[in-house]
Amino acid sequence: MKSIASAPAKVILFGEHFIIYGGKAILCSIDKRITVESELIDDNTIQISSDLGSITSSRDESIKNTDPKFGPLVFIAQKILKQFESKSGLKISIKSEIPSGVGLGSSSACCVAAASSISGLFTNYSKDEIVKIAIEAERTVFENASGADTSICTFGGIMEYTKQETKNLDLKPKFHLVIANSKMIHSTSEVVLRVKQFREKQVDEFALLCQNESSLIEEALDALKRNDLGLIGEKMLINQTHLQKIGVSNQTLDEMIRAIKGISYGAKITGAGDGGCIVILVDESNLQKTLDALKNYECFATKIDTLGVEQKTI
Ligand code: MEV
Repeated sequence: MKSIASAPAKVILFGEHFIIYGGKAILCSIDKRITVESELIDDNTIQISSDLGSITSSRDESIKNTDPKFGPLVFIAQKILKQFESKSGLKISIKSEIPSGVGLGSSSACCVAAASSISGLFTNYSKDEIVKIAIEAERTVFENASGADTSICTFGGIMEYTKQETKNLDLKPKFHLVIANSKMIHSTSEVVLRVKQFREKQVDEFALLCQNESSLIEEALDALKRNDLGLIGEKMLINQTHLQKIGVSNQTLDEMIRAIKGISYGAKITGAGDGGCIVILVDESNLQKTLDALKNYECFATKIDTLGVEQKTI
C-alpha cells in the first residue's frame, strides 16, 4: 500500500515577520503543490528521495545527525512510526511544483504533505493533527516559526492567522495573483534573526511599526471582504514600506515592485524577504500587462487553492 498526499504553496498577503511578535497575518494558498508518496518497507531505514537530493538514515538516527534539509521529514517519519508501534522502515518520495527557498512555503508544504502521507499508512489524521506535527517538525530547524505557513498549507483558502487562532475567511475573491521570483534564495531563519536584532536595537521604532501593521491589517481585511482591489493593493504597498523599514527588502525586490507600479493594484514581498518572491495583485484587466512588465523575471499567474492538504491510498 502507498499513501500519497499533496499540499499547496502559500502566499502571505499581509503580516510576515510581525506575526512572530504577536501580530496577525493574512495568507492564502495557491495552485502549486508538493506531493509526498510513502510506503512501509521491510528494513529499519528511512529513505527519502526528492529533486533536492536523497538520504537514507537509520530509523533511530538522531535528527541532529541528519541533513537539515531532511531533518523535519525524518522527525515526522520517526514520530508517526513510534506512535503506531511500527517496526517497519519507510520509503518516501517527493515531487514538487513549488520553487524552494523563495518564500512560497515549500518546506512547510512538504512537512504538511509528509505528515498526511505517512500517517495515512496507519490512520486518517485530522487536519488539526497534521498541522500540529508539521509545526513541531518545522520548529526542529526554525525554532521561532510562527506556524502561519504550515497552517495555510494544511487548511488552504484565505486565512486570518495569529499564533493563537486560525480563521478561514470565507471570501469569494475577484482577484488573481502574479508571483515574480527574484531567484535570490534566502534562509528564513537568518532573515528572521536579523529582524530580531533590528527589534532589539530599535525598540520604539519596531513597536510603532507593529502597531501600524496591526491597523493596516484590519483595514486590509475590510477591503478584502468588500473585494476593493484598489484599496487592497494600496495596503500591500504600505505593508511593503514596513518591510523595507525592518530591512527585509533589497534593491532587486524594490526594482521588481517599481516595474509594476501603476500597472497592477499593488505588490509586496511574500515570506521572509531579502530575496525570494514578490506577490502582485491583479485582475483580468491588468494581468497580461503585469506579466509583460515583468518579462525580465521568472513570473507566473496563480489562483487561490481552496483544498489544502489532500491524501489518498493506492
Ligand atoms: C515566512 O514565510 C514568514 C515569517 O513571518 C516567518 C514565520 O511566520 O514563521 C517570516
